[in-house]
Amino acid sequence: MSNCKICEQQIQPFLEFGKMPRANAYLDKDGFANEQFFELGVGFCEQCKLVQLLNTIPPEKMFHDDYAFLSSTSRYMEQHFASLAEDIIATHINDPASAFVVEIGSNDGIMLQHFAKHQINHLGIEPSKNVADIAISKGLTIWNDFFAESTAKQVCHEYGQADIICAANVIGHIEDLRSVGQGLDLLLKPDGLFIFEHPYLVDNIQKNAFDQIYDEHIYYFSLLSVQAIFPRYGLEVVDVKWQSVHGGSMRYTLARQGVHPVATAVSERLAREQQLGLDQLSIYQEFALQAQQIKRELLELLTTLKQAGHRIVGYGATAKSSTVLNFCGIGPDTIDYISDVTPCKQGRFSPGMHIPIKPYSDFCNDDHQYTLLFAWNHTEEILTKEQTYNQRGGRWIVFVPHVNVFDML
Ligand code: SAH
Ligand code: TMP
Ligand code: ZN
Repeated sequence: MSNCKICEQQIQPFLEFGKMPRANAYLDKDGFANEQFFELGVGFCEQCKLVQLLNTIPPEKMFHDDYAFLSSTSRYMEQHFASLAEDIIATHINDPASAFVVEIGSNDGIMLQHFAKHQINHLGIEPSKNVADIAISKGLTIWNDFFAESTAKQVCHEYGQADIICAANVIGHIEDLRSVGQGLDLLLKPDGLFIFEHPYLVDNIQKNAFDQIYDEHIYYFSLLSVQAIFPRYGLEVVDVKWQSVHGGSMRYTLARQGVHPVATAVSERLAREQQLGLDQLSIYQEFALQAQQIKRELLELLTTLKQAGHRIVGYGATAKSSTVLNFCGIGPDTIDYISDVTPCKQGRFSPGMHIPIKPYSDFCNDDHQYTLLFAWNHTEEILTKEQTYNQRGGRWIVFVPHVNVFDML
């Protein structure tokens, strides 16, 4: 039995996948024999409403000098972060010459570069050295470290407090939220803002996106749980805004209690989450049933296609794909290879199922009829980009919210 990492109450497990590999641990052939697995499962805390992993991996095993995810592989995400940075500058930064912006989990600098462009004093805190180095090569100021209370203390000492602390797709990756909360409390100016985005639990549930569950995703936030966590560290949610990225995300803006007015969007969103039943275990149990149903339907479809002699290629060696492939037991007999634009994934094999990952040029030069879209959160970008494949009648297989096959003719 696991206890909640926030309020220490016993949590209710609702979906257990069994032994799974680390999702971003692409490997060479000589790594197959020593591959490490861990128990992947999620549970719900009835007290603070936080959905969370039942078991976790030490952060140094996930975020290191060979971290496989590069933020700037998506043009749409580049646009998204450009507009987020411009929005923050226009709305919240009165004096760019004296402002100080900190980003937690800045990766290759996809967002921070826009603050730098406006000559705004900035600092990225990023533990994965290979991606931090890319940001540094863009001229950005980066600390190659994990954000925690101790890091916040050092940053404060060296640079002073921040006007804005932003974070995208990272707060749910940090197990010790107490340390994050205390670090924010140290680092944020009295009237500063903490703005973070994360895939939204409501979208995860409504889209049956069970593939969002993997080792790096320790927490699955809703406004309900965010409101249970951050007031412990003197922060309140002053605004929320839904975003379409990553299959549906929420942008939470927090400030010290009582300093900024609270937008009506906060109470409206909270009421909606309660109305949807996000505070009840049953919605999560239903989600787990949907995951099992998708597994059955996807396996049936792939088996039928293989029996008919079709070749199937994967698109996007996402961390999410590790969950689908290992949960369903889909390997290289079914999927010839997975195409991905990230150089460090190419030539390697997918975790657990060992499907080869090939450069995007392999996909472009292929004549296959079926593509399993693992990067479904980038559907619009990918379908727009793949005109040649679409025009030759290539078909797409998706599995969220339901198993479906379609073409663009
Ligand atoms: N913000 C980027 C990257 C998200 S991936 C985007 O939205 O595209 C998560 C990133 O957070 C990785 O680069 C990882 O190395 C980093 N990270 C993980 N734990 C962290 C921590 N404790 N402090 C700061 N960054 C962390
Ligand atoms: P993500 O779903 O975690 O953002 O990961 C997307 C993965 O898909 C990443 O490895 C990059 C890859 N990708 C492509 O190969 N082609 C594309 O057009 C896009 C958008 C992503
Ligand atoms: Zn709890």
